Amino acid sequence: MWDILEKYEKAPLLLSDEQYLAISDTEFRARFRERVHHTLEVQLYHALASNRPLGAGQTDTAVHMCELWQKRGLPVDHHDYKYAQCILDLARRSAAGETVSLDQYAPPPITDADREVFFRVVHDRRSVRAFSDREVPDELINKVLDAGLWAAHACNLQSIRYLVVREKDEPWLFRGSDIPPGPVHIAVMQDERCYLANTVMSLKNRILDAGAATTNILLAIHANGLDGVWLTYENHMIDALRKRFELPDYIRIVDFIDMGYGVQTPFPPQRPDVSERIIVRV
Ligand SMILES: Cc1cc2nc3c(=O)[nH]c(=O)nc-3n(C[C@H](O)[C@H](O)[C@H](O)COP(=O)(O)O)c2cc1C
Repeated sequence: MWDILEKYEKAPLLLSDEQYLAISDTEFRARFRERVHHTLEVQLYHALASNRPLGAGQTDTAVHMCELWQKRGLPVDHHDYKYAQCILDLARRSAAGETVSLDQYAPPPITDADREVFFRVVHDRRSVRAFSDREVPDELINKVLDAGLWAAHACNLQSIRYLVVREKDEPWLFRGSDIPPGPVHIAVMQDERCYLANTVMSLKNRILDAGAATTNILLAIHANGLDGVWLTYENHMIDALRKRFELPDYIRIVDFIDMGYGVQTPFPPQRPDVSERIIVRV
């Protein structure tokens, strides 16, 4: 599973301008986000919280990455570019001595009712392994996949990609699972090129990125009145999918979710009391 990573292991953190201009858009955007995040965003929030000025030259890398973005002819209304511009704007205003407030970005307070719904979604989600034939609208599928994209992601590299297959269009392609095929199969995948932006980062983070997305998706499935189950498959299934959809070698399939309208009501698998699971508390 990890073989295709090997060729990426030696990628340098920093590139020359020529290299930045020669790499794929996907890799460039990942490197762009990583550089802005690690050289300015983190420092900016520390500076604002501690009322200390940013160091001289702190914006240089982000400015340079924006110049490279433009040299590549990438669209300046792209969300990655807008994110960098926003961070740069805040940093410049702070450096100019302005009291910068981020209040406009503060999420609205969570009410008691919101909190109750949140914990209902967390506690009432179940792995459901049998589904009716009722069709799941594309909009609902998009909605739950969007929840996956909002998961935390190491270095903000945004590697998550999806494969969405309706059982009726590819009958039994997903044979091999230990459950009857759901009406909608989702494979959570990653574009490995994103990880070229920071090869120092451990392999562990890569798989955690996919797990974080998968958890969000399962919760969103439940919150949208659907049911789902997290699945893993043997390599022969992964190979069959790669072949069927001609996936390039830099796309890695990590895990799967089957979703639809469930026809089972499982007994809630019980969880221990938290106090039983805290090994250390000081
Ligand atoms: C990484 C992972 C892999 C899983 N793989 C499978 C699987 O291949 N087949 C399956 O039926 N369930 C699979 N599950 C679902 C678990 O069996 C299920 O989450 C567990 O029994 C607890 O039940 P609950 O999800 O209803 O709380 C997987 C869950 C995780 C987190």
